[in-house]
Amino acid sequence: MRQDINLANEIQRFQADVAIESALTPPASWYTSPAFLALEKQAVFQNQWLFVGRRDQLRNPGDYFSGTCLGWPYVVVLDDSRAPRAFYNICSHHGTCIAEGVGNTECFVCPYHGWTYDRRGHLTKAPLAGAMQSLQKRNLDLQPIPVSQWGPFVALWFGKSAAAVEAQLAPLLESFATHPFDNMQFVRRVEYRLDCNWKVFVDNYLDGGYHVAHVHPGLTSQLEMSSYRTTLGERWSLQSCPTATSPTSGATLDFGQRVGEHADYAWIYPNFMINRYGPWLDTNMVLPLAPDQCLVIFDYYHAGLPTADFLEESLRASDQVQQEDMQICRRVQAGLHSGIYQQGVYAPGFEAPMLHFHKLLQADFLLSAHSAETLHVQ
Ligand code: FES
Ligand SMILES: [Fe+2]
Repeated sequence: MRQDINLANEIQRFQADVAIESALTPPASWYTSPAFLALEKQAVFQNQWLFVGRRDQLRNPGDYFSGTCLGWPYVVVLDDSRAPRAFYNICSHHGTCIAEGVGNTECFVCPYHGWTYDRRGHLTKAPLAGAMQSLQKRNLDLQPIPVSQWGPFVALWFGKSAAAVEAQLAPLLESFATHPFDNMQFVRRVEYRLDCNWKVFVDNYLDGGYHVAHVHPGLTSQLEMSSYRTTLGERWSLQSCPTATSPTSGATLDFGQRVGEHADYAWIYPNFMINRYGPWLDTNMVLPLAPDQCLVIFDYYHAGLPTADFLEESLRASDQVQQEDMQICRRVQAGLHSGIYQQGVYAPGFEAPMLHFHKLLQADFLLSAHSAETLHVQ
């Protein structure tokens, strides 16, 4: 079925200047149309630091990790002076992805014809290329990507004019109840593929705990929802909540050791979450795969080394919560896709972080030159 949408009109259907009590959410097209995903790729994801990896993956010169973000293949490597460098993972000869997975290497050798690049991305060998004129005339090095480190994370900037990540996020760091990254050791990565637009998952995260009682019955008894607090930053928000083990509550908790006395849920626009509770820290990176599909990558860290039993029990409890969110997100997407639902409303006492997210999105859409065009999409 062919569906024409006027992108500029659809963007404007969300009215950012309306108070939350009477505001309408963005229309369903934001969550279902390939045109919006194309717009987001350029207007949102190429204008932000994207937290793709971990500092602990780059301990020694030559350590590298690679991946794909919004279709952009990248590789990050520690160079000989122990500085992280990032490149598009694309050979200058015919475009082959040169590196796979993670590892340590002296140089990157393209598997196709053996072109070789050093840890600074310089082309050092082009076997039998002989009289190829462009070897002298063109820059055939790997294309660099701006890279930054913040806390235990490594971030890439896929667009032009990268901003300073520290300045942007310093106020967030101050807002955490504890020093969130102290003594944290990476323990495991878990990936989930969700049948929903990436923003459905983010919206769910930013509903101020509104869904917890209904979707996560096992979790709701553990959080003091009446003390839930929200802080909105420029391009981040923080939701904080004492847990049922805290001295104010006196309640007991079955796996209180896992949750601790306080939970902080930080979100960094557009797609990165940092969750800090008890001895745990986990991050969620949300990557769009299609208008109705996304990948969420969980990285778990622990303060010190947990016992094997504690680790498995904690990850099992976390997986339970994630399964519950996945089910509800799939059901939201079905409603958004129905053609019946147009725009929803906000629960004012809870969903301010979600409204904040939608305003940031719209501001980026409007800045983009694409927003004035009418796109014809499948
Ligand atoms: S494509 Fe890489 S060497 Fe030919
Ligand atoms: Fe949830």
